[in-house]
Amino acid sequence: MNALKTIKEKAKEKHRKVVLPEGTEPRVIRAAKKIISEQMAQVTLLGDEKEIEKLAKEHSLDLSQVRVINPQNAADLNLFVDDFMELRKKKNITKEEATQTIKQPLYFGAMMVRHDQVDASVAGSIHTTGDVLRAAIQVIGLKEGINTVSSCFMMTVPKYRNEVNKVFLYADGAVVPNPNSEQLASIAVSTAQTMENLLGMEPKIALLSFSTKGSASHSDVTKVVKAVEILKKEHPELKVDGELQVDAAIVPEIAKSKAPDSVIGGEANILIFPDLDAGNISYKLTQRLANATATGPIIQGLAKPANDLSRGCSDEDIVDVTSIAILMKG
Ligand SMILES: CC(C)(COP(=O)(O)OP(=O)(O)OC[C@H]1O[C@@H](n2cnc3c(N)ncnc32)[C@H](O)[C@@H]1OP(=O)(O)O)[C@@H](O)C(=O)NCCC(=O)NCCS
Repeated sequence: MNALKTIKEKAKEKHRKVVLPEGTEPRVIRAAKKIISEQMAQVTLLGDEKEIEKLAKEHSLDLSQVRVINPQNAADLNLFVDDFMELRKKKNITKEEATQTIKQPLYFGAMMVRHDQVDASVAGSIHTTGDVLRAAIQVIGLKEGINTVSSCFMMTVPKYRNEVNKVFLYADGAVVPNPNSEQLASIAVSTAQTMENLLGMEPKIALLSFSTKGSASHSDVTKVVKAVEILKKEHPELKVDGELQVDAAIVPEIAKSKAPDSVIGGEANILIFPDLDAGNISYKLTQRLANATATGPIIQGLAKPANDLSRGCSDEDIVDVTSIAILMKG
């Protein structure tokens, strides 16, 4: 079974609740129907009741199996507005501003996650990544011990060396443009947690660079070396190494010659890229040249799960991302 199928099966066993804030989008309605018929999760749709009712009829979604909430007149509106004012008190926002913000489905959905009314939120079919992230960062906030929200891509490579459907996590390919050493370390920790939550595999983390163990000196290399030092000090439990060139990270024979003492030994399954250029370019290259499947961006580092969709997503993509969001809770 490939990794995504396993993730979907594991998600079903959790019997969790999700909110899909973009409830007036036909693809979301169709995804809700699939999520329910596959018994993956209980679904709450946000949006205008009449509009959702009309779409549900068109797409044969049985609304008796879904919860529909209109943030404009929701029973919890005042509760969420007061909470948001408290959260943003340093920004001096007015009650009117807070009300207008919480009435937006992305913020209302994030509040439902924050208040444990649901386990995860999945949105982004009609909103940008930035919009989805901003609502999640402001309302849900960061996981303890993590200093930045980031993302990873799950890359399934059809054949790598002797393995079929070999899975790697690449980070960060979508969120943090120029991470400093502390942020790189945090991205590595979040990605390790993502691997454990989604795949139940032992993370073997390589922090990548154009240098292997001092073969080159440059401030970009120093940034990665410092991130490895932070990780070794603060997370001695993690199997992590760097700075490594990617061949020394994923090819055991090359690791033997370039980094003979590496704890990873050329068997890395998590690749941490030094910046967003490297991460984004690498995942797309792997996708195109190795015919790999890229699943993501998987948003990580939030206190509770909120996940992003590509605006070009299909209803099936929404179901897949929902299963990931469910497992991100741990
Ligand atoms: C995360 C993101 C939405 C923040 O955008 P922004 O609102 O312009 O960010 P700012 O730099 O003005 O920061 C706003 C707040 O968010 C916080 N913040 C920004 N990025 C953050 C991150 N990655 N993790 C945690 N907090 C973050 C800032 O600290 C700031 O906090 P404050 O409101 O308490 O002062 C932005 O980095 C983004 O759009 N990233 C996605 C990039 C993208 O589109 N990639 C393509 C997808 S493939």
